[in-house]
Amino acid sequence: MKMNEELENAFNKQITLEFESSMLYRQLAIEFDLKDLPGIAGWMKNHAAEELTHADRLIEHLTDRDNHPVIGDIRMPAIKINTVAEAFEVALEAEEKVSESIRNLYRLGVETGDVDSRPTIDWFIAEQIEEEATVRGVLGRAKLINEDGPGLLRLDDELSGNA
Ligand SMILES: [Fe+2]
Repeated sequence: MKMNEELENAFNKQITLEFESSMLYRQLAIEFDLKDLPGIAGWMKNHAAEELTHADRLIEHLTDRDNHPVIGDIRMPAIKINTVAEAFEVALEAEEKVSESIRNLYRLGVETGDVDSRPTIDWFIAEQIEEEATVRGVLGRAKLINEDGPGLLRLDDELSGNA
């Protein structure tokens, strides 16, 4: 069943946010590449790709229901990163923003009685809990390292094997 226009607009905002999130991670990957930390750069780049799959999942939900996905204006904030911990703080802030947007999508889904969007929205709620936990975990370790060279190289090595 086709969803109503209000919920469709909210889904489209979420699609745009996922693309923005992808670009933010891609920019962070560039910053780490320039810091000669290829493992963390790769982790960020993989994350950028993952965000695109999130956008795709939302787009597919709309097209499956004969709604019209539209990618909105992409706003890419200028980021200035001095330390590794700062980069993960930026990532965590962005994830928290995405989580709140997903919660609003959930609330609107309930409010409009849109049962069909529930499985998709529930998937995103669970995914955001995981994303926040992952980023918060790396941020915690980055703070412990406190820009110590050998520590950063170890973190770089660790993240090179993970997405
Ligand atoms: Fe996402």
